[in-house]
Amino acid sequence: RDIENERSLCCFHVSNAYCVSPPGINGQTVEMDDGKAGYVGSKVDLRCRFKNSSPPVKISQVTWQKLVNGTKQNVAIANPSLGVSVAPPYRDRVTFKNAAVRRRTPTLEDTTITFSSLRLSDESTYICEYTTFPAGNRENTVNLTVYVRPTTQMSLSTPTLVARSSNLKTPVATCISANGKPPGTIRWETRVKGEVTTREYKNSDGTFTVQSDYILVPSRDTHKETLTCVTTYNEEVFTDSVTLDIQYEPDVSVDGFDGNWYLNRENVQLSCQADANPAVSLYQWRLINGSIPTNAEIRDNILTFKGPVTYDLQGTYVCDATNSIGTRSASVEVSIIGMFT
Ligand SMILES: *[C@@H]1O[C@H](CO)[C@@H](O)[C@H](O)[C@H]1NC(C)=O
Ligand SMILES: *[C@@H]1O[C@H](CO)[C@@H](O)[C@H](O)[C@H]1NC(C)=O
Ligand SMILES: *[C@@H]1O[C@H](CO)[C@@H](O)[C@H](O)[C@H]1NC(C)=O
Repeated sequence: RDIENERSLCCFHVSNAYCVSPPGINGQTVEMDDGKAGYVGSKVDLRCRFKNSSPPVKISQVTWQKLVNGTKQNVAIANPSLGVSVAPPYRDRVTFKNAAVRRRTPTLEDTTITFSSLRLSDESTYICEYTTFPAGNRENTVNLTVYVRPTTQMSLSTPTLVARSSNLKTPVATCISANGKPPGTIRWETRVKGEVTTREYKNSDGTFTVQSDYILVPSRDTHKETLTCVTTYNEEVFTDSVTLDIQYEPDVSVDGFDGNWYLNRENVQLSCQADANPAVSLYQWRLINGSIPTNAEIRDNILTFKGPVTYDLQGTYVCDATNSIGTRSASVEVSIIGMFT
């Protein structure tokens, strides 16, 4: 092949040192960007411009190569007489940006290439090498970095948590920044006190997955509290929130006794109040060391004493409130005010 012959001519007749002599030594330089970065799927230009000397040297060929594990792989070649040739793995995605290069005109000063749909595997060092006569080879390199925007996902560890008397800490919510390159960062915003554990995994494709758990003791106080996960990636910020659903046994109190139950007062009531999640399914009333008076009427959480108050109403009344998590009680001591007290 002519292309190969021209390249080897240089290397046979000129010393090796001359072939790879650093740019600029004889007035010609290969200009490239310091570095280049793009997102997966995006379009990116790798710039390469030849600054010729006066008098100018002849450009015989320009070769773009990718450095893979220390070896050079051809990506594209532009030759003033033979035209351009893109290596098969890149044929669909790499073009010379300058139309004159593609049209086989002998102007190869700008051999910028365009990657049309960037892949993770494109991340590498690229060499743009000018073969010239009689000056030998001039080359420069650019590092291409490929970014991947991670996907963020937030979830409750389980749909509902139960507040236990054991007061054990447990992960309640998880936030994941998946498959990012570079990795995303995660922080939490909430009024609820807790601990955070964050782990970072490297995936086989070179991307990173970051997982952060929010850990706390589920309790009645944390029910319906909001946890917000804030993930940051390349200065882009995403937020997502969850609301805790904590189940707990009833928190009970008895209302209605105002300390002024005098004889013959009519239709006094006791009311059992309970805060519970899920809601209380059963209220039960009892009188310690006795039985509920016969004039008492029980409707759900309300105990109504029909008719006038008598001394028979005295005693300690207990309300037991039950939901699926447990049963808790509260009591009130009822005393009756007589005529002469
Ligand atoms: C580069 O080398 C590593 C280990 O030496 C190997 O796993 C990998 O497949 C190589 N990459 C290419 C593109 O050949
Ligand atoms: C390009 O990447 C190589 C290999 O990772 C590194 O040694 C070199 O310093 C990088 N060059 C620049 C300009 O960042
Ligand atoms: C109930 O009866 C028991 C035993 O008869 C007694 O020890 C206890 O003090 C009584 N409680 C009340 C509230 O009267």
